[in-house]
Amino acid sequence: PAAVIVGIDGPSGTGKSSTSKAVAAKLGLAYLDTGAQYRAITWWMLNNGIDVNDADAVAAAAGKPDIVSGTDPLAPTITVDGADASAPIRTHEVTSAVSAVSAVPEIRTRMTELQRAIAAEAPHGIVVEGRDIGTTVLPDADLKIYLTASPEARAARRNGELKGAQAAGLAATQAALLKRDAADSGRKTSPLAKAGDAVEVDTTELTLDQVIECVVTLVEEKR
Ligand code: C5P
Repeated sequence: PAAVIVGIDGPSGTGKSSTSKAVAAKLGLAYLDTGAQYRAITWWMLNNGIDVNDADAVAAAAGKPDIVSGTDPLAPTITVDGADASAPIRTHEVTSAVSAVSAVPEIRTRMTELQRAIAAEAPHGIVVEGRDIGTTVLPDADLKIYLTASPEARAARRNGELKGAQAAGLAATQAALLKRDAADSGRKTSPLAKAGDAVEVDTTELTLDQVIECVVTLVEEKR
């Protein structure tokens, strides 16, 4: 079959990453987590003493770090200037700073270029997950999915993923998640939004396996 390009967007806690990885693995496609790239550049900003709320400083540094994503859905990797960033990009510090960094247009331009290059190089096609894949990064994708879920379900799932010192109360998790979604949806440049031609899947009442099955079927219809 010809290479197939799939974009999966939606807010956090909808099952985007688990679904995207599983669909890519089942169908022999590459996988790209664009949120990990925004987290990686945010981690670099924090490590280099850049005030993430100073948009001019963030913009000036946007081209500096070298960010490389490995696209195997069974073992995705991300490095910043050669250093493994997979664990540090999941800390509270990065999670609370990432929306400010990702709202800066120069950051988005750089990440979008990286993402398009990776998608173009995937021989069998790719599943790309993020917030603006269907609207901005890959407007010609073969299939666009927009995942949603109730705030309660999203907070419960996110809480289940956080371990040890990173775990918080359910109410705190839900508040932090809604705050990040509001920032991502409210920014001027390529906000979180459903593309007009995206298929919306509400995952509130579905198991992960049901969501995966649903998306696999939709991809197979496109091939
Ligand atoms: O998906 P994840 O929660 O890891 O994404 C982290 C952050 O990266 C989001 O809250 C958002 O600010 C940013 N992001 C984005 N555009 C994307 C993917 C992620 O702005 N395509």
